Amino acid sequence: MQIAYTVEDAKRITRAWKKEGQTIGLVPTMGYLHEGHASLIKKARENNDKVVVSVFLNPIQFAPNEDLDSYPRDFDHDCALAEEMGADLVFHPEPSEMYKNHETYVNMGLLTESMDGLARPIHFRGVCTVLTKLFNIMQPDNAYFGQKDAQQLAIVKKMVFDLNFDVKITGCPIVREDDGLAKSSRNTYLSPEERAAAPVLSRSIAEGQRVIKAGMASADLVAQMMKVLDSEPLADTEYVKVVDALTMQPVETIDRPVLVAMAVHVGPTRLIDNFSWEPED
Ligand code: PAF
Repeated sequence: MQIAYTVEDAKRITRAWKKEGQTIGLVPTMGYLHEGHASLIKKARENNDKVVVSVFLNPIQFAPNEDLDSYPRDFDHDCALAEEMGADLVFHPEPSEMYKNHETYVNMGLLTESMDGLARPIHFRGVCTVLTKLFNIMQPDNAYFGQKDAQQLAIVKKMVFDLNFDVKITGCPIVREDDGLAKSSRNTYLSPEERAAAPVLSRSIAEGQRVIKAGMASADLVAQMMKVLDSEPLADTEYVKVVDALTMQPVETIDRPVLVAMAVHVGPTRLIDNFSWEPED
């Protein structure tokens, strides 16, 4: 497995592969890889000749009050896991390499104006900008994202469509701990007490999946899910929303494919979880 630290090196390696007619699968990450990332690399390995994992803690998607400085890092472990899963290249640039005299950003409208986009106003601008750069540098045929970040996934698909990128975006299922907590690099922030409380998110998701089948209105569904979340004293719910799966706008009647998503603070840690749902006809 090769490691590239500069844009020039990453371009040189991936352009040579393209010239040979090899397909490239990209797994963009911010590092501190876990089994969720491993499942994306595995999927990329199955469907492409070459697999690139980017490990880049993207500063422009964090607001000054967010956790950029404390975000966990372990590049040696990231490389070991990427190699074990069959990656051919890890791209690990410094922020100064990615953002030299940087002035250009990719902004999206509607889809970023709900849920995480409200709580984290510059977040998706940073995500869209770094992904635009990674797609241009690597020119992947395929790119893989976790469904845990479902709003991000919808935004990336829309950006790729709107800006005519020649890359197919694949969403991969949420990987969970045995007790249901969705795997996340941020789970390391949880104290033992908070860790014990955190599966309340997945219990609320399971309750939502159970009751949505009865064909209820969004407000009733959210109320049922909130009952579960409110039963945990350490959980402070930021939002539980039912949104249109494509536009990310709230829906009152569940008569189309929807995303049911939540952000919950467990102690100081902000956790997210979700499920998707399609009415039968
Ligand atoms: O989901 C993430 O880890 C990040 O938002 C991404 C897609 C790697 C962009 O920095």
